[in-house]
Amino acid sequence: MRRLIIDTDTGSDDAVALIMALKSPEITIEAITTVSGNVPLIQASQNALMAIEVTKRATPPVYAGANQPLKRPLMTARDVHGQDGMGDQGLIHPTGRLAEGDAVDKIIELVERYPDEIEIITIGPVTNIAKAILRASEVMKRVKHIYAMATGGFGPGNITPVAEFNVYVDAEAFEIMLNSGIDITIVGFDICLGDAAFDKEEIEHIRNSGKPEAVFAIECNRSKIDWNLKRYNRYCINWPDPLAMAVALWEDIVVESVPAHCYTCTIEEPAYGQVIVDTSFFGNKTKAFNAQVIRRIDSAKYKARVIDLLTK
Ligand code: RIB
Ligand code: CA
Repeated sequence: MRRLIIDTDTGSDDAVALIMALKSPEITIEAITTVSGNVPLIQASQNALMAIEVTKRATPPVYAGANQPLKRPLMTARDVHGQDGMGDQGLIHPTGRLAEGDAVDKIIELVERYPDEIEIITIGPVTNIAKAILRASEVMKRVKHIYAMATGGFGPGNITPVAEFNVYVDAEAFEIMLNSGIDITIVGFDICLGDAAFDKEEIEHIRNSGKPEAVFAIECNRSKIDWNLKRYNRYCINWPDPLAMAVALWEDIVVESVPAHCYTCTIEEPAYGQVIVDTSFFGNKTKAFNAQVIRRIDSAKYKARVIDLLTK
C-alpha cells in the first residue's frame, strides 16, 4: 500500500486533486498538510476539510502548516479561485476539525516512522517541505519521492512571464527542496493546458453525474471557469493539481519525462520564481540532475481516468 502525504494550498483545483486521492483505495493518505498560497492558511485548511467531508470516503487527518512563505510576504490567487478559493459558491462549511499538531512536525514524524515509504505530493508552495528539510535534513532524505506541481515546466510562467505561482509564492523554499537530495518529479503548468484542459462537454458530464463530490468539483471551480473565459476566451478548466495527482497515481499517463538540473531564481526581481530546467549538460559533475520533469502526457487517458474517478 502506498503511503502519501498531500501538501496543499487548497484552491479549487487542489480540491479536485484531494477528491481524486480520497477516492483511490490503492493508496493511504497518511496526512493532508496545508499551507498558505491560493488562499491564507485558515481558509486552505477549511477547504481541505470540506473536500474530505463532501467525498465521504477516507478521512485522513488535516494538519495546518506555514501561514507565511520563508522570506516574502504572502501572495494569494483569490482573483483566480475566488475569495474563499472555492468559487465563492457558499460551499465551505466543514463540520470536521483540524488534527492537533503542526504540519511540519507531522511530516518529519511520518517520514521517521515510515522511512523510504512516504511519497509527498505538493500542490502548493513548498514552504512546509522546506521547513521540514531545514529542521531535519537527514530524516527528509528518507522521503521515497516527491511529486511537485510546480514551475512552468517547458513553458512560460503563469503569474509572471517566467514564474509559476507555486514557486513564485516561495521560491526560496522550492530551491531548498530541489537541493534536498530527495527524488523529485516536477509536473509543470505547461502540461495542464491545450488538450489536457477539460472542455464544456466534459465539465457538464462530470457535473451531471450527480455525485456530490463531482458536483462540488465543478461548482468550486466556477471562478476558474470565469477566469479562463476572460483570459483564454475558452470555456474550460485546466487542472494543474489534478494532473500532478494523476501523474502520481497513474504513471502510465506519462509519455515523456526528462532528467534535468533545475535552478530556482531568487535574486533578480524580474526573474524571481523562474525555474531554469537544464537538460542540456552531460558529464558536468558540478551540476547533478535534481529532478525528473514531465514533458508530455497522454491527455485522453488522463482525462478519461479523472472523469471516471470523479463520477463513479
Ligand atoms: O500555478 C498553479 C498552481 O498554483 C496550482 O497548484 C494552483 O492551485 C495554485 O496553487
Ligand atoms: Ca494548489
